[in-house]
Amino acid sequence: MTSYDIAVIAGDGIGPEVTREALKVADAAAEAFGFSLVKNEYDLGTERWLKTGDIFPDSDFEDIKNHSAIYLGAIGDPRAPVGLIEYGIIAKCRFDLDLYINLRPIKLYDERMCPLKGKGPKDIDMLIIRENTEDAYAGMHGFVHKGQALEVATQTMVYTREGVERAIRYAFEAARARNKRKQVTLIDKANAVRAQDIWTRVFAEVAAEYPDIKTDHAYIDAACMWMVKNPEWFDVAVTPNLFGDIITDLGAMLQGGMGIAASGNLHPGKVSLFEPIHGSAPKHAGKNVASPVAAIMASSMMLDYLGQKEAGAAIEKVVSDLLISGELKGVKTGAQPTSEVGDLVAAAVRASVAKA
Ligand code: IPM
Ligand code: MG
Repeated sequence: MTSYDIAVIAGDGIGPEVTREALKVADAAAEAFGFSLVKNEYDLGTERWLKTGDIFPDSDFEDIKNHSAIYLGAIGDPRAPVGLIEYGIIAKCRFDLDLYINLRPIKLYDERMCPLKGKGPKDIDMLIIRENTEDAYAGMHGFVHKGQALEVATQTMVYTREGVERAIRYAFEAARARNKRKQVTLIDKANAVRAQDIWTRVFAEVAAEYPDIKTDHAYIDAACMWMVKNPEWFDVAVTPNLFGDIITDLGAMLQGGMGIAASGNLHPGKVSLFEPIHGSAPKHAGKNVASPVAAIMASSMMLDYLGQKEAGAAIEKVVSDLLISGELKGVKTGAQPTSEVGDLVAAAVRASVAKA
């Protein structure tokens, strides 16, 4: 039987609860489709740091690399300094494993989940490709005269031709593979951040190789407006890291909120990391109230990435069906006990495969 080694970082806050449910569902799909997941858990996150001072020991990192995929629940906790755990775990994986694509699908399954008036599932179905290793996230920052009146703080936005090109190329390939509107929108701010002219130029060069794909362009401020006003204009969009971080939270709201949005941090062909977009929500931790749907959707993306496309699609279909039927009572915190959602989706995945 085909088997995949999965490194599991359940993390902080609600991370462990939603991870448990997501893996319950992934296991149900694996069993139904005849493969297995071998899960190795890594105790990483704020608790461990508080107890031992370790954030991501090299031995754990080396070990994690030798898996088929990494599943991450959530990290972040107000007891740690801002950014310490985020940079030490998630950014470390993104940079040191060169996970250069942050794939964030935005798909509305049920009109009732959308805050926009008059928009339904046919209007909201896009794929945001967020470049994931450069831009303001590259870590080039500094302070001089710290704490004094003449303090200066800088952070450099870094773009390499290779980094920009591989993100853009991934977007064109994705638009072709999706075979929907066959369109790629470049979202940038090249009119003000002049260094992003490299995005303008490389986009034009790559686009010339894909005559079957239409192109579009929006500055990030206008893109925020259009995504709310005319989300149906978007098919695949590609954007630098920081704008991608922001616009995918906006996108998550269009599809029903942080309770459903999932993502893949990919280096195509290599070990990649899957996670819900939401944070660790410490105030809801341990109460069995967080929605595990985003975490479940991340497990669906992981199975798809591992080549188990039918299993990934079965999970997505079941979640969609259960939201439409109302058996899944939405994805808001407290809508339904966390564990009940996992049981419901796992059972429905088994039943859907048994029926087929
Ligand atoms: C995300 C998160 C991270 C980011 C944080 C936790 C550093 O917001 O994955 O979107 O900014 O990339
Ligand atoms: Mg974010």
